[in-house]
Amino acid sequence: MQDFLFESERLGIRRFLPTDAEDFAEILTDEITSYFEPYEAFSEQAALKEAERLTYDERFFAVILKDSGKLIGKIYFESMKYFGSYEIGYSFNRSFWGNGYASEAVGAMFKYAFEKMKVRRIYAEADVRNERSVKLLERAGMRREGTFIKSAYFQKDENGKPVWSDFACFALLSEDFFGNN
Ligand SMILES: CC(C)(COP(=O)(O)OP(=O)(O)OC[C@H]1O[C@@H](n2cnc3c(N)ncnc32)[C@H](O)[C@@H]1OP(=O)(O)O)[C@@H](O)C(=O)NCCC(=O)NCCS
Repeated sequence: MQDFLFESERLGIRRFLPTDAEDFAEILTDEITSYFEPYEAFSEQAALKEAERLTYDERFFAVILKDSGKLIGKIYFESMKYFGSYEIGYSFNRSFWGNGYASEAVGAMFKYAFEKMKVRRIYAEADVRNERSVKLLERAGMRREGTFIKSAYFQKDENGKPVWSDFACFALLSEDFFGNN
């Protein structure tokens, strides 16, 4: 039995533990999963180190499958310090995509954040090419507030030049959440 901060039907969410390192390395070492992330896929050794670092980092939440105890995802949730606004990010083990786990975890995070943490606004930015992420944010009921054109890059072309990408910004206010729940 694990100690979760909060739960949904199939998932438990808690802080990272040192024993999560191997499951987490499966996510960090995968090139496809890392493609839209602000880092390149980790080597196995670097991934294990990064997993240890996250144990002490309060911005990250571990998503656990309750029936097996396996860590299948990471949620990033960081306050931008001002105005009660938090950014959410996520990354899940590719073997578990397509089951609604990420949507379920994000929904549970919203409930915890608005009800317990008294957060005022949650926002996310997704590369418009990242269809799975955009679909997740729409499914989560977030409002698409705009698109920042060529605002950042996470890849370089064959000449080492940045591949600038457009980022869609999604947000949800506490009144949106409580109005719908
Ligand atoms: C973004 C990411 C988390 C989305 O994962 P995902 O599994 O597609 O997301 P969801 O949990 O919303 O699952 C939705 C899919 O599960 C299906 N599904 C199956 N059972 C379901 C259920 N009970 N509830 C909801 N959806 C269900 C949906 O139909 C949908 O299928 P589709 O892919 O054919 O449309 C994942 O692609 C990822 O980790 N990407 C790499 C990291 C990344 O890009 N992060 C975002 C940076 S902005």
